[in-house]
Amino acid sequence: MTDVVITGTGLYTPEHAIDNDALVAAFNTWVAQENARNAKAIEAGEREPLAYSSSEFIEKASGIKSRYVLDAKGILDPERMRPKLPQRGNDELSIQCDMALAAATQALQNAKVTPQDIELVIVGCSNLERAYPAVAVELQDALGAQGYGFDMNVACSSATFAIETATNAIASGSVKRALVVNPEICSAHLNFRDRDSHFIFGDACTAVVLESKDVAIAPEQYQVLGTKLVTRFSNAIRNNAGFLNRVTDSDPLASDKLFVQEGRRVFKEVCPLVAKLITQHLASLELSGADLKRLWLHQANRHMNDLIARKVLGADPSEEQAPIILDRYANTSSAGSIIAFHLHREAIAPGDIGVICSFGAGYSAGSVVLQRVSSV
Ligand SMILES: CC(C)(COP(=O)(O)OP(=O)(O)OC[C@H]1O[C@@H](n2cnc3c(N)ncnc32)[C@H](O)[C@@H]1OP(=O)(O)O)[C@@H](O)C(=O)NCCC(=O)NCCS
Repeated sequence: MTDVVITGTGLYTPEHAIDNDALVAAFNTWVAQENARNAKAIEAGEREPLAYSSSEFIEKASGIKSRYVLDAKGILDPERMRPKLPQRGNDELSIQCDMALAAATQALQNAKVTPQDIELVIVGCSNLERAYPAVAVELQDALGAQGYGFDMNVACSSATFAIETATNAIASGSVKRALVVNPEICSAHLNFRDRDSHFIFGDACTAVVLESKDVAIAPEQYQVLGTKLVTRFSNAIRNNAGFLNRVTDSDPLASDKLFVQEGRRVFKEVCPLVAKLITQHLASLELSGADLKRLWLHQANRHMNDLIARKVLGADPSEEQAPIILDRYANTSSAGSIIAFHLHREAIAPGDIGVICSFGAGYSAGSVVLQRVSSV
């Protein structure tokens, strides 16, 4: 089997940012309007008034302070409360392909490879803007890459599942170089009128180049020591949007066609699952938490990350050991752990070991153990 190395990463961050105060102000304006509209029914006890949101709660409960989005204006308009993205024609690049192109170009430059060197393109993300043709095939064409491409969706775990797929394709010798891209437009599946979750997500796109070690020339290389994936069915995070909505005559705009979760249950059930996955994965490689220089965890909730890191490392994690990016980016679904890896590789020296780990709907979780290697 061929050794596989990650040789480049890229990140596309949208221009618009919304901090908690701006998000909460728009939400609370809408709540006041709704309660005024329903004043009579509320007074008569026929209806509960809607509750206000608060920045203090959001930051305390999740660690999120701000998020980047493709369109802030539509989200902050109390009459709309969803992004407004112009529809693109069939002769234009799709929005996700555009985001992917920006992140991929940066990753390819870091890896010192050309688009023509790429033989496999995987687009992995929670939501795809169309059923087909695959965004990955569109991206392959836009880049001028060779070989083949396909889309895959394992929700927040799409990046690690795609990294495993790419690693296996390279290790088995079917391709020499692969590109994994995660264009997440989470603002489009988020219900900005749901107090429990309106603050959770942001938009971003990440890209990772993987190569057979014998052809890699990048100055920074991380060997994939192993990958381990797990899934366990749960309805605690669910989105019922799908192509059957039209024929089942269900309301395509109903709130169940957006992200819905039981946050507290997710917290309780996912943390032990993830800590066990990483610990068992490390043990299978004859490693333990004490061997880790860094944990690049999925970015959904600061307290979840602290708990998982504590279980894996056996002690409270420092900012350096388990970097947090969700304060600025919020939950960017599959892009989160890769943003952490992209932005926080400082002081990782040849020989150092780290883990990229994602977790989310499914439930699904993926662990990728990496070791920095000396480049040529
Ligand atoms: C979503 C999450 C931040 C909520 O935090 P939590 O501590 O579980 O909060 P709860 O939903 O239990 O609500 C606690 C209280 O805050 C209130 N609250 C909820 N949203 C609020 C808001 N926006 N503003 C103010 N108060 C709010 C609730 O009404 C509740 O009040 P009560 O105690 O009087 O009943 C947290 O559960 C979480 O992050 N879970 C994991 C989610 C996850 O990883 N999902 C994966 C997605 S891919």
